[in-house]
Amino acid sequence: MAHCLLIAGLVGALGASGLAPEGDLQLMQTWSSGQPPRSLARDGPRSVRPAVYPPSFPIDLRDEADPRAATTTIVIFSVGEFAVGSGPFAGATVCTRPTADPDPRTKRPWKLLLESDATDAELKVISAEFTNGLQTYPDKGQVPLVFGNMTEDGLRALLNRYPGRVKSVQEDEFVKMVDDPEPNDGQSERRTYPWGIQYVQADAVRGRGVGVSVYVLDTGIRITHNEFGGRAFAGVDLTTPETYPGTLTTCSPTSTTCANDVHGHGSHCAGTVGSSSYGVADGATIWSMKVLNNAGSGWTTWMVMAEQWILASGNRPAVVSSSIQVGPNWNDAPWLASTDALVADGVTVVVAAGNSNQDACTWIR
Ligand SMILES: *[C@@H]1O[C@H](CO)[C@@H](O)[C@H](O)[C@H]1NC(C)=O
Repeated sequence: MAHCLLIAGLVGALGASGLAPEGDLQLMQTWSSGQPPRSLARDGPRSVRPAVYPPSFPIDLRDEADPRAATTTIVIFSVGEFAVGSGPFAGATVCTRPTADPDPRTKRPWKLLLESDATDAELKVISAEFTNGLQTYPDKGQVPLVFGNMTEDGLRALLNRYPGRVKSVQEDEFVKMVDDPEPNDGQSERRTYPWGIQYVQADAVRGRGVGVSVYVLDTGIRITHNEFGGRAFAGVDLTTPETYPGTLTTCSPTSTTCANDVHGHGSHCAGTVGSSSYGVADGATIWSMKVLNNAGSGWTTWMVMAEQWILASGNRPAVVSSSIQVGPNWNDAPWLASTDALVADGVTVVVAAGNSNQDACTWIR
């Protein structure tokens, strides 16, 4: 519940993050007057659209008629599409995708959450059961997780070989989690702050966030953009090579190729976080955590791995900003455990909440 309240308390900032028009960064790129935008006219009164809650999953909250709502979302599937396995799973909760390849010989991608007392050594043994196993390092403070491909029968057998050691398993999927950038409408200059920036009074109070590291989990960041004022750095890249469960590359912080943004969404979100003219916290240090490829797609494993890197190796104080979502009521136990561990470690985690005036608590991953 504390986690829930924390997220709810961040809705203001999230609104700014989620609702700034996608075109902002492109607009910033061509905004060259050098004048501080504080003198610019404010947007008109904030209008709140009534929430419309679709009754069934999966839902798509993109509203083409509202350019603000069209910026982020990303609804692919939800827990409603998963089946909780009831077979002999040795006490573990297993969420499989019924839409997955039913061929029993197919090695499907799994995320395993182990009991909290699991060690590096135990994870190494379990990880070795997979041909492409990847593990976290609980001895360094990470949440005990193992990722890899296996057949469903193989998974069942594995769980029975380690009874009571695996808490839950979630089948992964390669999903598109951000929309493609909208075409530039030809406008070359923005004259107002987005309403979300005003809502958190970032138009009036500049210079926030000095000394804070903000980790932006997204498609990467164009760190050389003027608007980042040299405050943006390359963090980690999970998308190269593009495999499952993937490889975590720790970037050289000034690299312009590692964790670089080709898609645009990550730079847009990072701009909302901390661009010099329009950012919520224009004093913050911004880190590119590339967990989505150049088409805006990725494995949830990549996000979990990035979170676990922040947990064990990231700076403090830290904020994690993730304008990524895979659906409301998403109930991915390994991912939730990963995010909860960050919150428990004092990291402020801000996640997108659907851009639809819904209760942010229903969007916690
Ligand atoms: C793992 O599973 C994913 C998703 O089905 C697939 O794309 C990939 O090729 C698999 N890898 C292996 C080594 O089986």
